[in-house]
Amino acid sequence: MTRLVVLASGNGSNLQAILDACQRGDLPATVAAVVSDQARAGALDRADRAGVPAVHVGRHDGEGRPEYDERLATAVDDVAPDLVVLAGWMRILTTRFLGRFPGRVINLHPALPGELPGVRAIERAWEQALAGERTGSGVMVHFVPDEGVDDGPVIATDEVPILPDDTLERFEARVHAVEHRLLVDTIRSLCLQPPVPNP
Ligand code: GRF
Repeated sequence: MTRLVVLASGNGSNLQAILDACQRGDLPATVAAVVSDQARAGALDRADRAGVPAVHVGRHDGEGRPEYDERLATAVDDVAPDLVVLAGWMRILTTRFLGRFPGRVINLHPALPGELPGVRAIERAWEQALAGERTGSGVMVHFVPDEGVDDGPVIATDEVPILPDDTLERFEARVHAVEHRLLVDTIRSLCLQPPVPNP
């Protein structure tokens, strides 16, 4: 079984899709821990309910990003993951973290490669569509090799059109549904072809 650690800052609906797939036997994986930077993240409650260790790594007052990332990496390393999944993780990770898990960190982003990096990607796509600048958006899963925001070697993508009778809520719900499926499918493909460890 591939050991996953899921990093999530918020609600955790994508985490839930992973937990459900594991429970159904749809993923040859186990969620070894869920880690959040937010004490009240819904993702931690979801982990609790699934009987998965829920770990809060909060930022200390005055602590720099590299120092935080060192503590975060230690907490994640303790669980010996094969793959680290960023599912709604809202902090940029430095090489202090990424260097500990080379080729093993993947991120989900609700936009297509090279488009709409950063927060509010779904809302910004919707605003651009209202302005006549686009007719759809999408979802991607990519490796996280460095500190680039929502950027890195792409593993999988899926398009999400904006329909004539869409509202932001309906469009957003379809993006999330695509995210839940694409993330689980991508993790499954990586479980079947685990990353080659660095020499
Ligand atoms: C998702 O849209 C994810 O792509 C983005 O933040 C959202 C998190 O949703 N980075 P959830 O916490 O998994 O419900």
